[in-house]
Amino acid sequence: MNMREKIKAAAARYPDQRSAIMPALLIAQKEHGYLPGPVLEEVADILDVERIWVYELATFYTLFHTEPVGVFHLQLCDNVSCMLRGAEDLLRHLEEVLGITKGGTTPDGLFTLSTVECLGACEMAPVMQLGDDYQGDLDIARIDALLDRLRATAGQATGADLAATVPPGE
Ligand code: FES
Repeated sequence: MNMREKIKAAAARYPDQRSAIMPALLIAQKEHGYLPGPVLEEVADILDVERIWVYELATFYTLFHTEPVGVFHLQLCDNVSCMLRGAEDLLRHLEEVLGITKGGTTPDGLFTLSTVECLGACEMAPVMQLGDDYQGDLDIARIDALLDRLRATAGQATGADLAATVPPGE
C-alpha cells in the first residue's frame, strides 16, 4: 500500500476524519522521515480536512518532526522529575560530546538532540526517548555507552532498525 492507501485505511476506523489526523501523520512521517509543508497538505487533502488542523497537530506534539532529524533522535526530558535527577547535566554533556546545541543535528546527520516535556516515565528519571524506546535511569556513563553503541552500529541498518535494537532502559 502507498501512503494514501494506508491513510485511507487508517481513517476508515474513525467516524470523523479529523480524528484520523494523528494516525495519518504517523503514517506520513514513517513514509517521509519528517513532515514538511507539502506532506502536511497532502495529508489534509487525503483526509479532506482543513489544512490548519493538520498543521496544528504536527507542530504541537514533539513526536512529529516538521524539520529533518538525524538517524538517531535523542529526545531528553527536561521536565521536573528528570531535571531534579540531573537532566540539565546530561543535556550539557550531550551538547559537549556531540558538538551541537539542543535542536541541532550533528554534521554527519547521525544525531539530533532535542529536549521534550514529561515522557510519562518519571519513575526512571532522567529519561530520554530514542526511536520508539525510552532510555531511563540515565547518567553520563550510560549516555556515553549508548552513543558508542549507536555509532558502532550506524551504517549497518536504518535509523528505525537501529533504534529498535536498543533495549529500553539501557
Ligand atoms: S519528568 Fe521526565 S519523564 Fe516525567
